[in-house]
Amino acid sequence: MQSHYGKSIKNTQGLENMSVIFNEIYPSFGNGTNDEVALMVTHDDGTMATDLFYHSHQQKEDKNIQTTIIHLKDEKKELYVDLHFKAYANENVIEQFTTIHNKEKKEISLSQYASSAIGFKATNYYLSHFYGSHSKEMMLSEERLTNGIKSIETKRGVRTTEYENPSFMLSLDGVAQENSGEVIAGALAWSGNFRLAFQVDDKARCQITAGINPFASNYYLASGEQFETPRMVLTYSNEGKNRASINLHNWAKKYNLRAGNELRPIVLNSWEGAYFKFDADKLKSMMDGAAEMGVEVFVLDDGWFGNKYPRNRANAGLGDWQVNQKKLPKGLEDLIDYTESKGMRFGIWVEPEMINPKSELAEKHPDWIIQRQNDRQKLLERNQLLLDLSNPKVQDFVFNVVDNLLKKHPKIAYVKWDANRHLQNFGSTYLSAKKQSHLFIEYTLGLEKVLERLTIKYPSTIFQACASGGGRVDFGSMKHMHEFWASDDTDPYERLFIQWGTNHIYPPIATAAHVTKSPNHQTKRETSLKFRFDVAMAGRLGIELSPDALDKKELEFAKKAITLYKDIRPIVQFGDLYRLLSPYDDGFAAINYVAKNKKSALLMVYSHTHHRRYERNFVKLQGLDPTLVYKVEEINMDSKKLHISFSNQLISGEVLMNRGIWINLRKPLQSAIFKITESNQN
Ligand code: GLA
Repeated sequence: MQSHYGKSIKNTQGLENMSVIFNEIYPSFGNGTNDEVALMVTHDDGTMATDLFYHSHQQKEDKNIQTTIIHLKDEKKELYVDLHFKAYANENVIEQFTTIHNKEKKEISLSQYASSAIGFKATNYYLSHFYGSHSKEMMLSEERLTNGIKSIETKRGVRTTEYENPSFMLSLDGVAQENSGEVIAGALAWSGNFRLAFQVDDKARCQITAGINPFASNYYLASGEQFETPRMVLTYSNEGKNRASINLHNWAKKYNLRAGNELRPIVLNSWEGAYFKFDADKLKSMMDGAAEMGVEVFVLDDGWFGNKYPRNRANAGLGDWQVNQKKLPKGLEDLIDYTESKGMRFGIWVEPEMINPKSELAEKHPDWIIQRQNDRQKLLERNQLLLDLSNPKVQDFVFNVVDNLLKKHPKIAYVKWDANRHLQNFGSTYLSAKKQSHLFIEYTLGLEKVLERLTIKYPSTIFQACASGGGRVDFGSMKHMHEFWASDDTDPYERLFIQWGTNHIYPPIATAAHVTKSPNHQTKRETSLKFRFDVAMAGRLGIELSPDALDKKELEFAKKAITLYKDIRPIVQFGDLYRLLSPYDDGFAAINYVAKNKKSALLMVYSHTHHRRYERNFVKLQGLDPTLVYKVEEINMDSKKLHISFSNQLISGEVLMNRGIWINLRKPLQSAIFKITESNQN
């Protein structure tokens, strides 16, 4: 039974007499419900009814974390279901997952196996979720739920995808507001097919059933086996969406993002600056420029491997992870030494799950490729196929690709792990005929195993999750990775929207945001270098261009901006993010970051359209200490002209938050950043 999910109640007297919100906390098929179920089992005798009853429970308290396991048992069969809840008190987050134990005499099959199913009662429900595609990830959609089921899901396998993200915010009793109202936010920690179903029923209740998408994924459990679902991460706020985001960010940085308490270095990635066209001299000249700018890690992207089938385009070489002798005759060590001589560290791109048909690996191990079998055509995506990670031998291969690189070149400090296709050729030569339907799930579990082995062996190597941009932006991959590449779209105008959506759920410290060339390669839009920096500085700043593309003045600006970012990055990466003006509303966008001790903050404001002559960007800050006095100073300027009518003025937190300030931004693609520092002159 679920009797309450909302504001924490200290005095629970009488709660048990209130009628329950939902009859079941883990509804199962065949016990009377006609609605969405969390569990559907075909038992060892072919029957399909399951009635779960309380069996026992355990509870453990460890400082901030309270763990509760509720053991349920079917009334008639030896089927045990454990509901696991991990409550993080300070962050206001609950993780829920389920384990299903088959203690029946014979095999059973699972056709639904959600992580969680929670219910709410309100007068109406507004759902915010994030959709997109390649180069347009995490677009925000906000809609009122009507009776019936709204489902956010993917069935493509391998990645959570850029099409839908496994996360949401649900506002009760009205349209979601940033700073008021009841909001439930959640995200599934799983890099594979998912389904989040929101059902509004005849009693105007809303149930969220969340977990792996059971589509084409009947799962068989032999007697004695168990199945563990991924974790559903949930938070509650009665102060609107912004608090829900901060809760998730705080939780992720502490418990679900690799090294969430460590500052991220500034990266220069070679992709948009060189693509496949480089040799050692070109890379070294990029390193010279990167070092001059103050970059900390140089990352060599795609194109460095393959000999029989050199990786000079995206149509060959994937799978052959040997250094291309023609482009880099002196090998990687020469580049690594050069990077280090310039005071930077070296990083490298890999895509070890994938294979081009034109590769030595494809010739050697055709059976390792995910394929429909019976000689059916192998459908290509970006000219490539997928390795079968359900196969432990393939897991070893994928592990070894990275392990060998890191063993041979222990100074590699950063790995960009890409994955540029889905699983359309459904079929495994490794799984038995009966267990073909395990493939979607076993693929993701296989990937998790490989990543876990690598991260245990290389605890200090930085990993970036990339999947044609933001295809793996989820808490499943973040458990193993330090950051994600939010999008291949690096146009700062587009990024205002992408980062806005992304940071609703996922923390800015993990959001790789790179300054690239103008006109932008994806959109051809022209923007100033300042605007590009001002947008990228709102996340984990990086550069992705050939430094020689900048003229002297631009190089000087870049240098200063990077020095500045080093100063403000603790506020961006460890502070709280407040959303002030949405880019979706009036052609302005504004956010502010506040350090945990509230002594320093940053205000970032953008205009992305043309405004009325006297219309100005007016913002009220959030999260400051009302009792403190702050100095407000414009930074990262590209001219002497200020965007506020004062500088270095002392203003109280109360005024900044309640009266607000005017920012003089009117033209399209203009921006301004302000550093706000507690002043002890008071
Ligand atoms: C994907 C990534 C890019 C880049 C290319 C290389 O598209 O998203 O950042 O690494 O692959 O082929």
